[in-house]
Amino acid sequence: MTRVLFTEQDYPDVLLERGVLGAAGIELVLGDCKTEAALIAAGTDVDAFLIQYAPITERVILELPQLGLVSRIGAGFDTVDTEACAKHGVWVANSPDYGVGEVATHALSLALALIRNVIGYHRDVNAGTWHYLSSGRLRRASEMTLGIVGLGRIGKRMAHISRNAFKRVIACDPYLIDGDFPAYVERADLGALFEQSDVVSLHTPLNDETRGMIDERVLRRMPPGSFLVNTSRGAVVTIDDLLDALDSGILAGAGLDVLPVEPPPPESRLLGHPKVILTPHAAFFSEQSEVELRRKAAQNIVTWAKTGRPDYVVVRGTRRPRS
Ligand code: NAI
Repeated sequence: MTRVLFTEQDYPDVLLERGVLGAAGIELVLGDCKTEAALIAAGTDVDAFLIQYAPITERVILELPQLGLVSRIGAGFDTVDTEACAKHGVWVANSPDYGVGEVATHALSLALALIRNVIGYHRDVNAGTWHYLSSGRLRRASEMTLGIVGLGRIGKRMAHISRNAFKRVIACDPYLIDGDFPAYVERADLGALFEQSDVVSLHTPLNDETRGMIDERVLRRMPPGSFLVNTSRGAVVTIDDLLDALDSGILAGAGLDVLPVEPPPPESRLLGHPKVILTPHAAFFSEQSEVELRRKAAQNIVTWAKTGRPDYVVVRGTRRPRS
């Protein structure tokens, strides 16, 4: 019988996963594995992992020759050593398209909250100040340029829902051909995008190329008083450089749903920063998207058990499940 280890989970229950896998005759076992050692100990007799944040390293793969598939509950897969998986024939699957609308609307919400100073007004009203000038002067969004870095699923949706709020939408994505740019989005390279944008929204994956990519070199190119929104992965931004840009006034504000360390340590300068809006890696979330996310991640395993290939392939493997 095919066995699946749910490596760790922060859901109130696992009824959905039990339902999807159970209906296909697949056994689900629950773990609490946040380390390589815990994964190796709990994973000796399973065919597949269903993971949220567990670190799937080469050591884990090497120690578990039975493991054939890692299915991530989420779009990103930066906790998985995909090269090692490819090398050893382990399939990697994800759930890429469950929350495109949620993340894009979250990013636009952060951008508009920054531009319209929603949090500052809320703070001032609650402190007893009722005045439209309480937090300084605001600029008109419809005269601003929105810059999107990474014009994939979420970036494209962000462009689409934002186009009527801003004057221009420009985007940087070196991996797309011109034909994949919507007609209303202008192409720019990274430097030009930061020079021309009043608001930049990040939508790239986290990988060796993008880690720390948003640093002092690009931030200093922005017009003074700009805004940065990150709903992609925290480590795409060099946080010390972001804080410097906020202090120097290059950035008037930052809206961050994702951080290099989540949750941030209590001493983080981001906490309580008057120019920073933080949300707890929640951009993906709605009741509906969560169900879709979890169902698709579990269904990857069912499809792999039946056909030898999961629905959403990140890495093509060769290993098969026990029948
Ligand atoms: P996608 O793969 O559809 O799009 C990513 C785009 O980034 C691609 O078009 C790719 O060509 C482009 N790209 C890659 N390297 C680049 C670079 N160096 N410069 C500019 N563009 C580059 O991914 P999707 O689904 O749109 O997700 C985007 C990000 O959102 C990912 O980091 C994902 O992990 C994150 N995410 C965050 C969630 C949250 O709750 N905050 C939920 C879901 C996804």
